[in-house]
Amino acid sequence: MDTAVIILAAGKGTRMNSSRPKVLHEVGNFPLISHCIKTAQSINPQKILTVLGHGRTEIKNVFKNSDNSIEFVIQEAQLGTGHAVSVAIEELSDFDGNVIVLFGDTPFVSAETMRKIETRSRRADLVVLGFHAPDPSGYGRLITNNNELLKIVEHKDANDQELALNLCNSGVMAGSSLLIKKLLKELDRDNKNNELYLTDCVQLAKAKGLNCSYLVCEPKEALGINSLEQLSLAEKRFQETARTLALEIGIHLVAPETVFFSLDTEIGRDTIVEPNVIFGPGVKVGNGCTVKAFSYLERCSVSHNCSIGPYARLRPGVDLSEGVKIGNFVEIKNSKVAENSKINHLSYIGDTEIGENSNIGAGTITCNYDGVNKHKTVIGENVFIGSNTMLVAPLTVGNNSMTGSGSVITKDIPADNLAIARAMQNNKNGGAKKLRALLRNKKIK
Ligand code: UD1
Ligand code: CA
Repeated sequence: MDTAVIILAAGKGTRMNSSRPKVLHEVGNFPLISHCIKTAQSINPQKILTVLGHGRTEIKNVFKNSDNSIEFVIQEAQLGTGHAVSVAIEELSDFDGNVIVLFGDTPFVSAETMRKIETRSRRADLVVLGFHAPDPSGYGRLITNNNELLKIVEHKDANDQELALNLCNSGVMAGSSLLIKKLLKELDRDNKNNELYLTDCVQLAKAKGLNCSYLVCEPKEALGINSLEQLSLAEKRFQETARTLALEIGIHLVAPETVFFSLDTEIGRDTIVEPNVIFGPGVKVGNGCTVKAFSYLERCSVSHNCSIGPYARLRPGVDLSEGVKIGNFVEIKNSKVAENSKINHLSYIGDTEIGENSNIGAGTITCNYDGVNKHKTVIGENVFIGSNTMLVAPLTVGNNSMTGSGSVITKDIPADNLAIARAMQNNKNGGAKKLRALLRNKKIK
């Protein structure tokens, strides 16, 4: 049977106290809504519909370059979660499969849980995902009788007995699209918030003698984010999960609690990550690498058996081939480095291509920016750049060439040449003694 996923993201997020739409706040360097879309995609549904309202322009902007598998519908006035789903379900007019509703502010529902929900929704009329909350305040409570779900009571509308329950609603609900559509038409706004609650569908279904069931997930999967405090807790949970997963798939984290990942970080087996390393968005690292302490990587690709850091910074557009070594205090931006080349100490390499087996000496700088435009440096294979060379771009350095230390290179270097561009040295015999005497005579008393 076909499945469609509806993600609710139209709410204002008043409790965030922020001008940014709630679902654009980030965890693991990606907006909350991207986490939900990834969750939805994990079951390959026929359709993913996201309901937008507040901040729709900003949110659409974030996805303007993604494929069109993500569709948006607009909920003009935010009249509640039930109303939001009805806006989306109207768009599914000729769809008679199952619908799974996710909340845009609940980013951690796992792929495994999604599969369980999908399977269960084929057997029950309505399925709700619950969790045992360590602190249930704010969440709707599931009122159950053995395996049956009788109703959901919102925190604000609950009596003392109901408030004492800790089995809470995660927000995930599934059922046939036709049934949910029918139930939504019967909702009223008879509650403390004067809203159309999606959760009321359970009672309505029960009254029709239908079968409502629930599944229970880990509390961390159901963490709903309504405040910045919960956002920081979500970041903590995300990092814990990412670290555990990394260790499980064979990435050796020496001090896991000090390493930070992004939602899309990809690292290969047998790579060692030393303490205090940060993986910004868009990072791929191959197998058998070592990322040494205090390195910062973002939007870059590192092939197998490379060594990075300590204290290296790989900025967007860096592409390192196998066996490359990047040492301490090296910053690289928008550059390609071919097999087995080394940039070991104190360098800035920007807008550059480096061939295989080249060695870039300590303190080398590609002077890529003239204050107006950026220029490219091309360095060939087996090149030896002497320490403290300034390579003033645009520049081409031929294969097997060398530069003398301290050179300021402004002209292309042909293959096999040695380029020296610095003042010639002049040794004056006894000059040190003479100069000292002169300076002492002039010393101000
Ligand atoms: C909701 C549930 C509650 C559950 C909790 C889990 C209802 C009535 N309550 O409460 O049972 O325990 O989530 O985190 O469903 N939204 C819209 N349009 C609207 C209203 C909301 O798109 O008109 C979206 C919000 O952007 C948000 C999601 O729906 O992503 C949930 O809304 P929110 O106001 O955060 O509900 P809670 O009070 O957290
Ligand atoms: Ca919420």
